[in-house]
Amino acid sequence: MKIAPSILSCDFSRLGEEIGAVSEGGADWIHVDVMDGHFVPNITIGPVITKGARSSTNLPLDVHLMIEAPERYLESFAEAGATFITVHAEVCPDLIATVGQIHSLGVKAGVALNPETGLEKIVNVLGELDLLVIMSVNPGFGGQSYIPGSTEKVAEARQLLDRYSSPAELEVDGGVDANNAADLQSAGASVLVAGSAIYGHPQGPGAGVVAIREALLS
Ligand code: DX5
Ligand code: ZN
Repeated sequence: MKIAPSILSCDFSRLGEEIGAVSEGGADWIHVDVMDGHFVPNITIGPVITKGARSSTNLPLDVHLMIEAPERYLESFAEAGATFITVHAEVCPDLIATVGQIHSLGVKAGVALNPETGLEKIVNVLGELDLLVIMSVNPGFGGQSYIPGSTEKVAEARQLLDRYSSPAELEVDGGVDANNAADLQSAGASVLVAGSAIYGHPQGPGAGVVAIREALLS
């Protein structure tokens, strides 16, 4: 199981140290939440901060674009050092083309599905995917509560990936913490994103990663 702390909940005045702390705690990827004020009501970070994150770690950067018309910015995020770029199925009329564009930039491609969006949206692009992201909150803000039915959707996504023998990673994003991590592992997730549970941990972000790791079934 990979753990991908979301820097959305970190102290941005100390970005490098905040990334260092989760790395020491055993983080596998760094999750970067990009919001545009259109697809979601919030505005967060862009390529400049992504580049700053890139220069502070060698871990894979998992860039989650919660933006409209993401094809306009794929090149900027590739240049900023993204390892994965994830787009939302809801804003991509031609997912195969968008995923192809990400790959042509030498970056791994992910597709995210909002809680209300069905898995059928990604069936025709499944063979091309490196990462499938199941949103377990409505995107827009960190610190929201996990939507319980998401675990079932993760299990269905796992079945779908296995049916097509897809090697894609299956990531869950939103409201993940030490209480639901083991259930998500059992449902077949391979990557857990957590922001507030890690950066809000009373003993610090490193301990936040360890707490989720320890909650997993060995
Ligand atoms: C939701 C973002 C998530 C989220 C993670 O819009 O994509 O990555 O902020 O933060 P927590 O773990 O606090 O839900
Ligand atoms: Zn995210």
